[in-house]
Amino acid sequence: MNIAVRYCSKTKFGNTMRIAEAMADALGVKAVSIMDEPKLPEKVDVLFLGGAPYANIMAPELREYAESLTSDMVDKVVLFTTSNWSRRTVLALKKILRERNIEVEDEFFYAHMLNIENNINPAKEFALRKKKEISVNI
Ligand SMILES: Cc1cc2nc3c(=O)[nH]c(=O)nc-3n(C[C@H](O)[C@H](O)[C@H](O)COP(=O)(O)O)c2cc1C
Repeated sequence: MNIAVRYCSKTKFGNTMRIAEAMADALGVKAVSIMDEPKLPEKVDVLFLGGAPYANIMAPELREYAESLTSDMVDKVVLFTTSNWSRRTVLALKKILRERNIEVEDEFFYAHMLNIENNINPAKEFALRKKKEISVNI
């Protein structure tokens, strides 16, 4: 199963990046920022994709990234987000991706911005569990 982890992380704390790296570590792949690589180099079975809200909206780069994904390049997406309170980044991403006929797991991973350290292991466990669940259903 070809798995990729991509994220958009903007603050100096790199909260979303840290969660992405934890997931990637568990999955045995590299977490890559969408700023560094704006296009997937190859088709993936599962894309773990994360971002955060800034003044109530996701970064425009993340929106553009989601809008550029196609169902022939991505079979399934698993979302994650970090924030102060809002989960709207995942809701907005779900809408964009589903409108593009890309399957998105209902369940997503959330970590509060002040609780990243305590969410490293849960993020790893979540990623491994999702990989397992998805591989059973393929
Ligand atoms: C300018 C700014 C605006 C933010 N606006 C929101 C917001 O509207 N809702 C929210 O829940 N969190 C908000 N946050 C918190 C970020 O979403 C949170 O710190 C997140 O973990 C940042 O991820 P990053 O470090 O990967 O960029 C804001 C943070 C900043 C710096």
